[in-house]
Amino acid sequence: MPKQVSRFLLPASLIFFISSIVSNCNSPKQQPIDDDEYRVQRTMVLYQRYSHKLYLAGKAGNWGLAEFYEHELEELTADLTQDKITYEGKDLGALSNVILRPAIDSVGKAIQSQEIEQFRKGYNLIIKACNNCHLATEHDFINITIPSNNPYNQQFQP
Ligand code: HEC
Repeated sequence: MPKQVSRFLLPASLIFFISSIVSNCNSPKQQPIDDDEYRVQRTMVLYQRYSHKLYLAGKAGNWGLAEFYEHELEELTADLTQDKITYEGKDLGALSNVILRPAIDSVGKAIQSQEIEQFRKGYNLIIKACNNCHLATEHDFINITIPSNNPYNQQFQP
Protein backbone atom coordinates (compact mmCIF):
# COMPACT_ATOMS: atom_id res chain seq x y z
CA MET A 1 0.00 0.00 0.00
CA PRO A 2 2.84 2.54 0.43
CA LYS A 3 2.61 3.47 -3.24
CA GLN A 4 -1.03 4.41 -2.90
CA VAL A 5 -0.34 6.49 0.18
CA SER A 6 2.29 8.53 -1.60
CA ARG A 7 -0.09 9.06 -4.52
CA PHE A 8 -2.44 10.81 -2.15
CA LEU A 9 0.25 12.56 -0.17
CA LEU A 10 1.86 14.34 -3.09
CA PRO A 11 -1.21 16.22 -4.33
CA ALA A 12 -2.12 17.16 -0.77
CA SER A 13 1.30 18.67 -0.13
CA LEU A 14 1.15 20.41 -3.48
CA ILE A 15 -2.21 21.91 -2.66
CA PHE A 16 -0.83 23.15 0.65
CA PHE A 17 2.15 24.65 -1.15
CA ILE A 18 -0.02 26.39 -3.74
CA SER A 19 -2.43 27.72 -1.14
CA SER A 20 0.48 29.13 0.86
CA ILE A 21 1.67 31.00 -2.23
CA VAL A 22 -1.82 32.31 -2.92
CA SER A 23 -2.27 33.52 0.63
CA ASN A 24 1.13 35.20 0.51
CA CYS A 25 0.01 37.10 -2.58
CA ASN A 26 -3.01 38.35 -0.72
CA SER A 27 -1.10 39.41 2.34
CA PRO A 28 -1.60 43.11 3.11
CA LYS A 29 2.18 43.60 3.41
CA GLN A 30 2.55 43.47 -0.37
CA GLN A 31 1.96 46.64 -2.37
CA PRO A 32 -0.64 46.23 -5.10
CA ILE A 33 0.98 46.55 -8.52
CA ASP A 34 0.57 50.05 -9.91
CA ASP A 35 -2.04 49.93 -12.66
CA ASP A 36 -0.20 52.24 -15.07
CA GLU A 37 3.03 50.33 -14.58
CA TYR A 38 1.26 47.08 -15.34
CA ARG A 39 -0.33 48.60 -18.45
CA VAL A 40 3.03 49.86 -19.72
CA GLN A 41 4.71 46.49 -19.24
CA ARG A 42 1.86 44.66 -20.90
CA THR A 43 1.82 47.14 -23.79
CA MET A 44 5.57 46.76 -24.40
CA VAL A 45 5.40 42.97 -24.47
CA LEU A 46 2.57 43.19 -26.99
CA TYR A 47 4.25 45.97 -29.00
CA GLN A 48 7.26 43.76 -29.42
CA ARG A 49 5.25 40.68 -30.29
CA TYR A 50 2.85 42.35 -32.73
CA SER A 51 5.50 44.48 -34.43
CA HIS A 52 7.59 41.36 -34.98
CA LYS A 53 4.64 39.46 -36.45
CA LEU A 54 3.65 42.50 -38.53
CA TYR A 55 7.05 42.40 -40.19
CA LEU A 56 6.91 38.67 -40.94
CA ALA A 57 3.43 39.03 -42.43
CA GLY A 58 4.28 42.10 -44.52
CA LYS A 59 7.54 40.66 -45.79
CA ALA A 60 5.63 37.57 -46.94
CA GLY A 61 3.07 39.79 -48.72
CA ASN A 62 0.34 38.45 -46.44
CA TRP A 63 -1.55 41.76 -46.41
CA GLY A 64 -4.62 40.56 -44.53
CA LEU A 65 -2.49 39.29 -41.67
CA ALA A 66 -0.26 42.39 -41.77
CA GLU A 67 -3.38 44.56 -41.46
CA PHE A 68 -4.48 42.55 -38.43
CA TYR A 69 -1.21 43.24 -36.58
CA GLU A 70 -1.11 46.87 -37.71
CA HIS A 71 -4.55 47.30 -36.10
CA GLU A 72 -3.31 45.71 -32.89
CA LEU A 73 -0.44 48.22 -32.70
CA GLU A 74 -2.87 51.03 -33.44
CA GLU A 75 -5.22 49.93 -30.66
CA LEU A 76 -2.46 49.58 -28.07
CA THR A 77 -1.29 53.10 -28.94
CA ALA A 78 -4.81 54.56 -28.83
CA ASP A 79 -5.36 52.95 -25.42
CA LEU A 80 -2.18 54.48 -23.99
CA THR A 81 -3.27 57.87 -25.30
CA GLN A 82 -6.94 57.74 -24.31
CA ASP A 83 -6.20 56.47 -20.81
CA LYS A 84 -3.46 59.09 -20.36
CA ILE A 85 -1.00 56.48 -19.14
CA THR A 86 1.98 57.96 -17.31
CA TYR A 87 5.14 56.21 -16.21
CA GLU A 88 7.92 57.60 -14.02
CA GLY A 89 6.44 61.06 -14.54
CA LYS A 90 6.38 60.76 -18.35
CA ASP A 91 3.16 61.03 -20.33
CA LEU A 92 3.50 57.85 -22.40
CA GLY A 93 0.09 58.37 -23.98
CA ALA A 94 1.08 61.72 -25.46
CA LEU A 95 4.55 60.45 -26.41
CA SER A 96 3.26 57.37 -28.24
CA ASN A 97 0.68 59.48 -30.04
CA VAL A 98 3.35 61.86 -31.33
CA ILE A 99 6.26 59.45 -31.87
CA LEU A 100 4.75 56.09 -32.82
CA ARG A 101 1.30 56.70 -34.29
CA PRO A 102 2.47 58.42 -37.53
CA ALA A 103 4.82 55.48 -38.23
CA ILE A 104 2.01 52.97 -37.72
CA ASP A 105 -0.20 55.07 -40.03
CA SER A 106 2.40 54.99 -42.79
CA VAL A 107 2.63 51.18 -42.55
CA GLY A 108 -1.17 51.09 -42.66
CA LYS A 109 -1.14 53.01 -45.96
CA ALA A 110 1.51 50.68 -47.43
CA ILE A 111 -0.62 47.68 -46.47
CA GLN A 112 -3.70 49.22 -48.14
CA SER A 113 -1.79 49.77 -51.37
CA GLN A 114 0.16 46.48 -50.97
CA GLU A 115 3.48 48.19 -51.64
CA ILE A 116 6.34 46.17 -50.20
CA GLU A 117 8.92 48.99 -50.50
CA GLN A 118 6.60 51.43 -48.75
CA PHE A 119 5.95 48.79 -46.14
CA ARG A 120 9.69 48.38 -45.46
CA LYS A 121 10.16 52.16 -45.20
CA GLY A 122 7.20 52.53 -42.85
CA TYR A 123 8.38 49.59 -40.81
CA ASN A 124 11.81 51.19 -40.34
CA LEU A 125 9.98 54.25 -39.02
CA ILE A 126 8.13 52.09 -36.48
CA ILE A 127 11.37 50.60 -35.15
CA LYS A 128 12.97 54.08 -35.01
CA ALA A 129 9.90 55.34 -33.14
CA CYS A 130 10.13 52.51 -30.57
CA ASN A 131 13.75 53.39 -29.88
CA ASN A 132 13.14 57.14 -29.90
CA CYS A 133 10.56 56.71 -27.18
CA HIS A 134 12.93 54.50 -25.20
CA LEU A 135 15.43 57.34 -25.49
CA ALA A 136 12.83 59.92 -24.45
CA THR A 137 11.92 57.84 -21.39
CA GLU A 138 15.52 57.07 -20.40
CA HIS A 139 15.26 53.43 -21.46
CA ASP A 140 17.55 53.62 -24.48
CA PHE A 141 19.31 50.45 -23.34
CA ILE A 142 16.23 48.74 -24.82
CA ASN A 143 17.16 48.67 -28.47
CA ILE A 144 14.59 47.19 -30.86
CA THR A 145 15.79 45.88 -34.23
CA ILE A 146 14.28 44.73 -37.53
CA PRO A 147 13.34 41.05 -37.08
CA SER A 148 15.40 38.45 -38.89
CA ASN A 149 13.64 35.18 -38.15
CA ASN A 150 10.36 33.54 -37.29
CA PRO A 151 10.46 32.25 -33.70
CA TYR A 152 6.72 31.51 -33.67
CA ASN A 153 4.87 28.30 -34.37
CA GLN A 154 2.87 30.25 -36.91
CA GLN A 155 3.00 30.46 -40.67
CA PHE A 156 3.19 33.96 -42.16
CA GLN A 157 3.05 33.03 -45.84
CA PRO A 158 -0.38 33.78 -47.37
C1 HEC B 1 5.63 56.05 -25.38
C2 HEC B 1 6.99 55.60 -25.27
C3 HEC B 1 7.31 54.22 -25.77
C4 HEC B 1 7.04 53.71 -27.02
C5 HEC B 1 6.35 54.39 -28.20
C6 HEC B 1 7.58 52.37 -27.03
N1 HEC B 1 8.13 52.07 -25.82
FE1 HEC B 1 8.88 50.25 -25.27
N2 HEC B 1 9.20 50.96 -23.39
C7 HEC B 1 8.91 52.23 -22.94
C8 HEC B 1 9.20 52.31 -21.52
C9 HEC B 1 9.00 53.52 -20.63
C10 HEC B 1 9.68 51.04 -21.14
C11 HEC B 1 10.10 50.56 -19.74
C12 HEC B 1 8.91 49.90 -19.11
C13 HEC B 1 9.23 49.19 -17.82
O1 HEC B 1 10.01 49.70 -17.03
O2 HEC B 1 8.63 48.13 -17.60
C14 HEC B 1 9.67 50.22 -22.35
C15 HEC B 1 10.08 48.91 -22.39
C16 HEC B 1 10.10 48.11 -23.50
C17 HEC B 1 10.60 46.75 -23.54
C18 HEC B 1 11.24 46.00 -22.38
C19 HEC B 1 10.22 45.09 -21.77
C20 HEC B 1 10.31 43.69 -22.33
O3 HEC B 1 9.25 43.07 -22.45
O4 HEC B 1 11.43 43.20 -22.61
C21 HEC B 1 10.44 46.31 -24.83
C22 HEC B 1 10.82 44.95 -25.39
C23 HEC B 1 9.81 47.37 -25.57
N3 HEC B 1 9.64 48.46 -24.74
C24 HEC B 1 9.46 47.27 -26.89
C25 HEC B 1 8.88 48.31 -27.62
C26 HEC B 1 8.53 48.23 -29.02
C27 HEC B 1 8.74 47.01 -29.92
C28 HEC B 1 7.99 49.43 -29.36
C29 HEC B 1 7.50 49.89 -30.71
C30 HEC B 1 6.55 49.10 -31.43
C31 HEC B 1 8.01 50.26 -28.17
N4 HEC B 1 8.55 49.54 -27.14
C32 HEC B 1 7.52 51.54 -28.12
C33 HEC B 1 8.42 53.28 -23.70
C34 HEC B 1 7.99 53.17 -25.02
